[in-house]
Amino acid sequence: MSGQGSTAMAPPVRLQVNGHTHALAVHGQVTLLQVLRNDLGLNGPKYGCGLGECGACAVLIDGVAARSCCIPLDGVAGRAVTTLEGLGQGGALHPVQQAFIDTQAAQCGYCLNGMLVATVALLQRHPRPTDAQARTALQHHLCRCGTHIEILAAVQRAAVLLAGSATRPVADAPAERGGPA
Ligand code: FES
Ligand code: FES
Repeated sequence: MSGQGSTAMAPPVRLQVNGHTHALAVHGQVTLLQVLRNDLGLNGPKYGCGLGECGACAVLIDGVAARSCCIPLDGVAGRAVTTLEGLGQGGALHPVQQAFIDTQAAQCGYCLNGMLVATVALLQRHPRPTDAQARTALQHHLCRCGTHIEILAAVQRAAVLLAGSATRPVADAPAERGGPA
């Protein structure tokens, strides 16, 4: 992914990322994903399709899962963005991250950012999701390695860990934005 569009312009766009406020002097139509990766050095969100189809670029915006590859920076001005890097607290992994490790859900790992973010959002809506709810929440997150069985197991493992964890959910989340539900 190039830094195209990240040329300096005024006035700066303000947004909160992982609890830190940034004033970014970039063109407001540059995508949130470009800013996160190229300007803020947050490489958890991945560039996959760039079209809102694969889910690799997912982040939480005000606690709602969204696809940062097709959201202009202007669209998140003043909003709270949480990336993969901001899920854990106090240097500890988020229970969802631990669950994906426990179930060995990663092969190449490229899809995992989106899977993790979508799972965090799902568990905020449904702390003990059914398998059908988990499948629906993740159905538009593509995994070319085919670890879907392990990923679904990770969702259930995460629900158990989260129920017994002091790590609090980022926020209440009604649905996913910026791509297929
Ligand atoms: S990169 Fe594929 S949905 Fe954003
Ligand atoms: S683990 Fe490789 S794309 Fe999902």
